[in-house]
Formats: sequence, C-alpha cells, structure tokens
Amino acid sequence: MEKLISSKHNIQHVPESYILPPERRPRQVALHSCTCVPVIDLYGNIDRNRQDLVQRIMEAGQEFGFFQLTNHGVPEELMKETVKVAEEFFQLPVEDMASFYSEDPRKGCRLYTSIDYDHEKVHFWRDNLRHHCHPLEDHVGEWPRNPTRYREVMGNYAVRVRELSLVLLDLICEGLGIQSGYFEGGLSKVQIMSLNYYPPCPDPALTLGLPKHADPNLITVLNQGAVPGLQVLRDEEWLALEPVPNAFVVNIGHALQVISNGMLRGAEHRVVTNADIARTTVASFIHPSNDSLIHPAALLVYRCSLPLYRAFPYDEFVRKFIKDTRDGEPPMKEYEIS
Ligand code: OGA
Ligand code: NI
Repeated sequence: MEKLISSKHNIQHVPESYILPPERRPRQVALHSCTCVPVIDLYGNIDRNRQDLVQRIMEAGQEFGFFQLTNHGVPEELMKETVKVAEEFFQLPVEDMASFYSEDPRKGCRLYTSIDYDHEKVHFWRDNLRHHCHPLEDHVGEWPRNPTRYREVMGNYAVRVRELSLVLLDLICEGLGIQSGYFEGGLSKVQIMSLNYYPPCPDPALTLGLPKHADPNLITVLNQGAVPGLQVLRDEEWLALEPVPNAFVVNIGHALQVISNGMLRGAEHRVVTNADIARTTVASFIHPSNDSLIHPAALLVYRCSLPLYRAFPYDEFVRKFIKDTRDGEPPMKEYEIS
C-alpha cells in the first residue's frame, strides 16, 4: 500500500526509483501539439454517410492507430460522473483502498502502482485500479462499494462503452471487408475497465506516467477527462493528443493489428506527467478470451497472399506483453513474419 504514488502526499522531489535514465525521459522539444489525429462524428454519419464514416475510421486506424470520437451516444453526464467516481476512489483514505491492493495480476479486481513494481527497474508515476466488467453480474460484486455510487455509475458506463466498442468493431469489419460478426464471441468476450490516477509530479522532465507501449487487446475506448498527458508516436515524433470535450479517444490494439494483417496499426503511445494537477483517466479494453488463437483473418491473407504474423494464443502473448512493456522491449517482434 505504501507503494501507491497517491499515498505520498506533498512530494517535493522525484524519488530516485522513479527517475528514468536520460534516453527514456520525455524530451519536451520533440513534441508537436496535434490537431491532426482525426476527430470523427459517429452518429452524425452512421446512417447517411456510412461508407464515408467507415473509410475515415480505417484511414485513422492505418495512419495513427488512434482517433477521437464525438457524438458517440454515451451521455456527457455519464462520462463526467465516471471520471468523478474514479477520482473519488483514488482520494479515499489509504485504509479504504487497502483491501484492493495486490501484486497478483490474476486477481479480478485490483489496485496497484506503476506496471510491475517488484520487477521493474524504474517506476512509473501512476496508480491503477482495474477490474473485469462483462458480463456485469459476474463481476460487479468484486468492485469497490466506496465511493457509494461506484458500482452504479461504473456499471452503467461499462455497458454503454461495451456497446459502443462493438459498434466500432462492426464498422471496422466492414472496412476490412471481412464477414460481419467476425469479432463476436470469443474475440471480444472480455472487457476490462482500467482507472488511471497520475498525481502531480514535481519534475515531469524526469518521469513518465506510462512508458511507450501499444495496447495488447482489440480496441481501447479511453475517457481521458480534461487534463492533457497522452501522446502518440507517429514517424518517430510524439504528438500530444489534446482533450476534446466529451470525446472518447479510441485506439487499435495489437490483437486487432494482427487480425487485420497490418491494415490497422496498434500505435505506440505514452503518458507524460505534469506538475500542477492530478490526471484521472478511465480506459475500457475489449480483449479476446485467454484461449483465443490470434491470427490474421483468412480472407485478408488470401487477398494479399501472405500473412504478416504467425498465429499465437492470446494468453501467452499477454504474459509476454506485460514483461516487454516493463522492460521497454517491442512485444510483437517474435510474431512477425518477415
Ligand atoms: C493505457 C493508456 C492512457 C491515458 O491505460 O493503456 O495508454 O491517458 N492510458 O491514461
Ligand atoms: Ni495504452
């Protein structure tokens, strides 16, 4: 528990164990504030301009691996409430959070800090609460009861965001030209909600909230609140993804990159810290079930006549992914066919 970064109040200096080696520090100079990651209006287009919408999603997924989504059907009020209950959770007295703290990644609902505290060389400036969400009734009993509105708000939110994620996966199916319903069943079975808390940091030049990584799953829908911090790597340049009011940040994960046979990009991103204000974000990850075999869709391999990746069991990949992210290694190398 004492490991939680949020439990270290009024911290004046960055503790030694959080200081990144110079080559891994965020170099502020290379940063471009980005208005170029596309902002896509979902329900303004889904009926009338469906083809155009699909094309924009595919282009964004190919070029950036990221887009922002407005007019997505999840009520503004629910998005705000969700970030608010997340903030409230991380502000609870440490005793109230204690029962959730665990270093065991197999635990269904757990609070921890950084990525893999006991095994990593340097720590990252974030605390994280994550839990399964789908089906709701199987998991809600493990979630925090405090804040008292947590289960109600997070439950509503999880259901709405899962629905939205499945709508996006359907559109992506159309864009890839593979059979509709491809992602139904095992490939989209698991939903994990991940609440990040990045407290103010006395020297943001020395730390990161999260290191460079791409997400391992199919698709991520992130509610990043109003405080900036997320950056996306494109052409070796870090682009700041500025918050757009009431928009979700959507990104492609490694599993979807592989299934799309490289047509969509699981783009690398990271989180920088800031000195002034805490940042709380809520990410919903749609994952394949552990026993899924991930491989390029047969039709896409047939069309371009070669697979870019070999098949792998999803659970094996996720284990490797956590270790590689912690150590700064690229996790996909061993699955690429060159
Ligand atoms: C993540 C992530 C971004 C953010 O949780 O994988 O990239 O802005 N989060 O919190
Ligand atoms: Ni991520």
